[in-house]
Amino acid sequence: MEYETPLFFRVMQYADEADRDVVDMVSGNPDWEPPTALRAGLREYADRDPDAFQYPASEGLLELREEIAARRRVDVEQVIVTNGAGEANYLAMARALERDRGDEILLTDPVYPYYPGKTTMLGGTQRYVATDESGQLEPAAVREAASQETAAIVVNSPNNPTGAVYPESTMAALVDVAEAYDAILVSDEVYDHYDLSGRFTSALGFDSDHRIVTNAFSKSMAITGFRVGYAIFPPGLVADAKRRHMLVNVAGSRPAQTAVLHALRETGPDYYDRNRKLLADRVDTFTDALEAAGADYTEPQGSFYVMARFENFPGTLENTFRLVDEAGVAGMPGNAFGDSRTDWLRFALVTPRLEAAADRLAAYFE
Ligand SMILES: Cc1ncc(COP(=O)(O)O)c(C=O)c1O
Repeated sequence: MEYETPLFFRVMQYADEADRDVVDMVSGNPDWEPPTALRAGLREYADRDPDAFQYPASEGLLELREEIAARRRVDVEQVIVTNGAGEANYLAMARALERDRGDEILLTDPVYPYYPGKTTMLGGTQRYVATDESGQLEPAAVREAASQETAAIVVNSPNNPTGAVYPESTMAALVDVAEAYDAILVSDEVYDHYDLSGRFTSALGFDSDHRIVTNAFSKSMAITGFRVGYAIFPPGLVADAKRRHMLVNVAGSRPAQTAVLHALRETGPDYYDRNRKLLADRVDTFTDALEAAGADYTEPQGSFYVMARFENFPGTLENTFRLVDEAGVAGMPGNAFGDSRTDWLRFALVTPRLEAAADRLAAYFE
């Protein structure tokens, strides 16, 4: 599988240029409102003095880092505010590789395709551990794949693309494997607010110098365009990551960080509960339609995605384009996520037109 240029933008462009109406279920851009306080924070920022439009601290606004540190119960020095979870993952993987404890990155199959792409870009090599059909990862299989060559184990729960949420026992075992091989567990928790199972466990729950947690406000506040995320490093690894962040970016966006800080302080749990409930309803609507279409599908425990397998319709790019043209629904080919899902398609549930898409799929595959 070729990961170097992720396919998302290619499929979105194809759907945009189609001759017919298409429901876009390609990417994970939430279609709901950000917190009210986020818009207020942004408006207020526009009227500030010019000095507020200059560089913030490279590692992020101190008040935002303090707010994150307090919520995550870590020392503020461990927190770097990044350009989304994407940069947080890049910093974490780069840091693991530059420790010179091996150049292999253990990834799951299926995988979020940016991880293998970043691995190659950073000079590492990928080694895959297959999940089961529901997307659960067997820690014993990770232990078996780990070796002196392992620089990092990169996992994501709630998971894109499978919707799996790893139980506490899996997270604990993954930290153990990282420690046993002097490797780094990178835990990407960008969908933590969309745990529908109630069993999401952050890797921060396990005190270890061998784990880096990455996250962002992109999904939790429905602001993928703001580019505000963060990484929490062990104290001994953070200085070099801050240096890399500074050399690559100089700093992050100050207005975006300020608006996020305001929203964090002012937004209660209702906001997150409402969106989680919306997502849970969409899971029901969409999986009912897949059932009616006679498809196999994953029952997501979290994140935004459902994978579906239709008879005699493998998840190739060609079939993805066919579905755009003939059914008016754009998904992602399963083979974009690894060799184990070549028969599957992935659909993102972040569209207000979910019911229309569900009806179209049911009618098309009837
Ligand atoms: C698993 C995973 N990690 C990271 C990202 C990127 O997050 P951000 O937009 O905060 O960079 C995504 C986006 O879809 C994702 O699905």
